Amino acid sequence: MHTFAQCCTQLQKQPKTWLITGVAGFIGSNLLETLLKLDQNVVGLDNFATGHQANLDEVQKLVSAQQWQKFTFYEGDIRQLEDCQKACENVDYVLHEAALGSVPRSISDPILTNSANISGFLNMLVAARDAQVTSFTYAASSSTYGDHPALPKIEENIGKPLSPYAVTKYVNELYADVFARTYGFNCIGLRYFNVFGRRQDPNGAYAAVIPKWTAAMIANEDVFINGDGETSRDFCYIDNTVQANILAATTQDPAVKNQVYNVALGDRTTLNELFAAIQSALAEQGVHYQKAPIYRDFRAGDVRHSQAAITKIQQALGYQPEVRVNEGISHAMQWYISH
Ligand SMILES: NC(=O)c1ccc[n+]([C@@H]2O[C@H](COP(=O)([O-])OP(=O)(O)OC[C@H]3O[C@@H](n4cnc5c(N)ncnc54)[C@H](O)[C@@H]3O)[C@@H](O)[C@H]2O)c1
Repeated sequence: MHTFAQCCTQLQKQPKTWLITGVAGFIGSNLLETLLKLDQNVVGLDNFATGHQANLDEVQKLVSAQQWQKFTFYEGDIRQLEDCQKACENVDYVLHEAALGSVPRSISDPILTNSANISGFLNMLVAARDAQVTSFTYAASSSTYGDHPALPKIEENIGKPLSPYAVTKYVNELYADVFARTYGFNCIGLRYFNVFGRRQDPNGAYAAVIPKWTAAMIANEDVFINGDGETSRDFCYIDNTVQANILAATTQDPAVKNQVYNVALGDRTTLNELFAAIQSALAEQGVHYQKAPIYRDFRAGDVRHSQAAITKIQQALGYQPEVRVNEGISHAMQWYISH
């Protein structure tokens, strides 16, 4: 097992070709930034359903002209097999991020979420298998723990899904497992727990909590807390998530493939604590939000508490999260204020 630093050094010595689906989105564009900075060749696929050209433009500004030339973008849809096939050509490592996120979106339109998250996922599996890529790492989700009450969440113990979104992410894991058994095609699923950081979209009805509250506080608008504020999450800064992806994609140990891993910090932050942390990080940057949050009903489909055990990914892949929650919030606030 290699450390993340060793892994990056090795990649710089011997650059690979990566495909990032969902490259114009939050996590995808952060993976792109890191990989281009490591002088990798990157192919990106996105249909701009929830991603933005502005994310790609920002990455272009953050890398050298030479590094940017190593990026090829295809505007396409994972629901079209041909788009997936074209994107997988001559690729070593696939990082499959494209999907429709958000529990509430899936409750209001389960057919749409299903088409991107299950049919699109299956297309990507088939295309990647046929292109004989070296590895396939995909975005799974902590929502797969569903109604299982135990904390912290251990990969083997899952409950029943609480939303259509959670069903789709669990089906991804089932398909990945069946592709290993049936075709010997081994994937790694990363169950992300509430990722946050630069370029996470603050706009729209389905924005995630940190960007949504941050934008509201910067605009001095009301902040709403669903429930009593004691709902808790394992918030994970984006750089830790990027690290997990690169470690998973490049591992050469067959024993750690065809597995799912939690990607988180292993901490638990309540929404009330989160509100205070964002408020104080913004105050440090000169934005003083004085309003109290407005409490309203719990949201359908939401899990009450979420906290990951991260021992499995630490032991199997050498994952060492480098950025704790408050530090991550401080970085993220700088980005939101300057944008
Ligand atoms: N952000 C989190 O906290 C979190 C938690 C658990 C899992 N995930 C998963 O991580 C992945 C990335 O999430 P994100 O937060 O970056 O979301 P995002 O919405 O910013 O990014 C998703 C990207 O996928 C693209 N996309 C959607 N449907 C597509 C399609 N049919 N064809 C091609 N591209 C398509 C979107 O345009 C967008 O750019 C998703 O699979 C999501 O379910 C995220």
